[in-house]
Amino acid sequence: MKLKTLDNLNLAGKKILLRCDLNVPFDLEGKVSDSTKIERHKITIDELIHKGSKVIIISHLGRPKGKYKENLSLGKVLNVFAEKIKVPQVTVMPFCKPEILKKVVDDLNNGTITFMENIRFHPEEESNDENFSKKLAECGDYFVNDAFSVSHRKHVSTYGLSKHLPTFAGRYLELEIRMLDKIFNNLNKPVMAIVGGSKISTKIILLNNLLKKVDILVVGGAMANTFLAAKGYNTGKSLIEKDKLDIAKEILEKAEQENCKFILPEDVVVARNMDEVESIDNVSIENIQTDFSAFDIGEKTIERISNEMATCKTIFWNGPLGLYEKEPFDNSTNVIGRTAAILTKGNIITSVVGGGDTVAALNKVNLTGGFSFVSIAGGALVEWLEGKTLPGLEFLHKS
Ligand code: 3PG
Repeated sequence: MKLKTLDNLNLAGKKILLRCDLNVPFDLEGKVSDSTKIERHKITIDELIHKGSKVIIISHLGRPKGKYKENLSLGKVLNVFAEKIKVPQVTVMPFCKPEILKKVVDDLNNGTITFMENIRFHPEEESNDENFSKKLAECGDYFVNDAFSVSHRKHVSTYGLSKHLPTFAGRYLELEIRMLDKIFNNLNKPVMAIVGGSKISTKIILLNNLLKKVDILVVGGAMANTFLAAKGYNTGKSLIEKDKLDIAKEILEKAEQENCKFILPEDVVVARNMDEVESIDNVSIENIQTDFSAFDIGEKTIERISNEMATCKTIFWNGPLGLYEKEPFDNSTNVIGRTAAILTKGNIITSVVGGGDTVAALNKVNLTGGFSFVSIAGGALVEWLEGKTLPGLEFLHKS
C-alpha cells in the first residue's frame, strides 16, 4: 500500500493537526502503566518539531461518550508525554470549542506543541459531524494521521478532517503499515496465530479469517473456555459466553474443513476465585470442578504450544492467554512470550504481536523487544487482518 507521507512536504510554520493514540493504560493508582503508545509517536513529533511545524495533538483517552470526564482528561498523560518525547515546550488547551482553539494555535511559535483535550469529550467526534470537522480543520494547514490503531473508527479525528485538509500519514503509521504489509502479504509458512482475550464475540470474524490462512490456530484466554464448553467439557465457574456456543462449534468445524490445526487448552490453571491463592491448581480439562474457574492455560498446553511454535516460520499473537494482570495467572503469557522471543532471536520465526493488552502483558516482563514487530493496534489490526477497509486510511492512499 503506497501512502502519502511527510516526504518532500514543506512543514515550516505549518499548523499540523496530528492524530496520535495516547489511549494508554493506567494502574490502580491512576498512573500510566505502559507508555509504549506515547513513545511510538516520537519519530513523527520529532520530525515535525525539527522542521518548524506548529503541532496540535489530537487524541482520545478511554470512551467518555461525548461528555467531559475529569478522570479521562489528557492532562493525565502529559507528564509521561513530556518525559518520553522530550520536547522543549508543550501547552495544554482546556476543553474548548474549535473556534477558541483556532485563536490559540494562530499565535503558536514554530516548533511547539499544543494538546487538544480528549477529542471524545465532544459528542461530534464519534458521530463524525461534518460541521465540527470543518471548524476543527480551520485550526490547521495539514492533517497528519499517526494513529493506525484508531483508523478503524470513522470519526472526525480519523476521517472527517481529511475531507477538509490535505492529509498525510505520520511516520509511525507509515512504519506500522509497511511492517504489517511486509509480513502479512508474503507470509512465510507454516504460520501460527495465537488469539487470546475474553470474548469470542469480538473476534469471530478474525478467527474465521485466520483459520483459512494459518496452519495452526491457538486459542487461549477466557475465550478458550467457551470453546471447551462447546465441546462438552464442564468448565465449572469459568467465564463463558453461553450464547456463543454454536458459533464456537461452527468455528471448530470450519477449522477441520480448512485443515487448520486448532489448539485449545488440554489443561488449565484453576482457582476457587482469583484471590484464593491456596486453591490454585493445574488440572486437566476433564477435571475442572464445578466451583472452580480457569484463569490461565496449564503447563502441558504451554509445552505443546511452544513445541508447535518451533515448527513454524511466522507467528501472530493477539490477546493475552490468561489473566495476565494477576500472578501467577500471567505464567502462560510470559513463558510463551519468552519462547517466541528466543525463536525470533534465533531467526527461526518472524513474530508479530498486536493489541494494547498483549503489549502491556509482554512489557510487564520486558519481552516486547524480542519480537520482530510489536503493533500497538488491537481492534484496528484485527479489522485490517479481516481484510476490511479502514476509514482512517482511505485518504492516505497515494494515487
Ligand atoms: C485501542 O486502544 O485499540 C485504540 O486506542 C482504540 O480505542 P477504541 O477501541 O476506544 O476506539
